[in-house]
Amino acid sequence: MVLRRILYLLFVITIMKYGKGQNSDNSSTEKPLLDNQNSDNSSTEIPLLDNQNMPLVALFDTTKLNEVLRAAIKKTVEDTMNEMIPRIKQAVIDDIGYEPGRKKERPAFTASLTSTKNLASNEVVIFDKVWLNMGGVYSQDTGVFTTPKTGLYSISTTVMSYHNSYLHCNLWKNNEKMVLAFGNDVSTGTVNVVMAVKMNDTVYVKHGTTSEEQIVGEHRSTFSGYLITE
Ligand SMILES: *[C@@H]1O[C@H](CO)[C@@H](O)[C@H](O)[C@H]1NC(C)=O
Ligand SMILES: *[C@@H]1O[C@H](CO)[C@@H](O)[C@H](O)[C@H]1NC(C)=O
Ligand SMILES: *[C@@H]1O[C@H](CO)[C@@H](O)[C@H](O)[C@H]1NC(C)=O
Repeated sequence: MVLRRILYLLFVITIMKYGKGQNSDNSSTEKPLLDNQNSDNSSTEIPLLDNQNMPLVALFDTTKLNEVLRAAIKKTVEDTMNEMIPRIKQAVIDDIGYEPGRKKERPAFTASLTSTKNLASNEVVIFDKVWLNMGGVYSQDTGVFTTPKTGLYSISTTVMSYHNSYLHCNLWKNNEKMVLAFGNDVSTGTVNVVMAVKMNDTVYVKHGTTSEEQIVGEHRSTFSGYLITE
């Protein structure tokens, strides 16, 4: 198909060239598309319409032909790749269930509390042991999860209260108090929420009373979250 078009093109060019006559001088403003300076070495003459005794030959300049072919092949390969890449990508997604390199970067974190501690009035709980922190979204210095992109997030926290005491912890988004995780005696309070957050919003767990309360560590209190969808 491509080759046929090239041959046709060369054929037309040859007719144009020879149509100007054999004794062409340099006065012509038309520049032949095929420059035939090395015709002895790099071109092939094929007689055409010979049975009608017409002095017409198809002159294939193989130097230029290579160039044209190379361009045609390159374009064909590019077109094919452009068409194939989305299909290959889809096949990979179908096969392994996610798009490599993209979903891998899905923000996600899991942290837990190493040691039992007293929480002061309205103190942010810092879950100091980080098990997972994809995208570096959770700070083990501040206990704050900062959302790197706008989307729907699943957020969970479990807090365990100490023997014979209460524990009140709230999940906060920016300056908004959302839901409460409560424990009494040695028990856990758990929160699982799906929330819509904007990029750079902050999500954290904060002690919810003015009096001091204890939170049990040993990785029984946890905080985690991940992006469900953008
Ligand atoms: C035509 O141009 C070529 C090179 O451009 C030159 O070698 C040749 O002498 C010219 N012929 C005439 C008739 O001017
Ligand atoms: C054909 O071209 C090659 C390389 O360009 C050169 O070495 C060779 O001498 C040429 N032959 C003729 C007959 O012009
Ligand atoms: C989010 O925070 C980063 C770093 O501080 C900043 O470069 C970016 O502009 C912020 N984006 C939005 C939408 O607030």
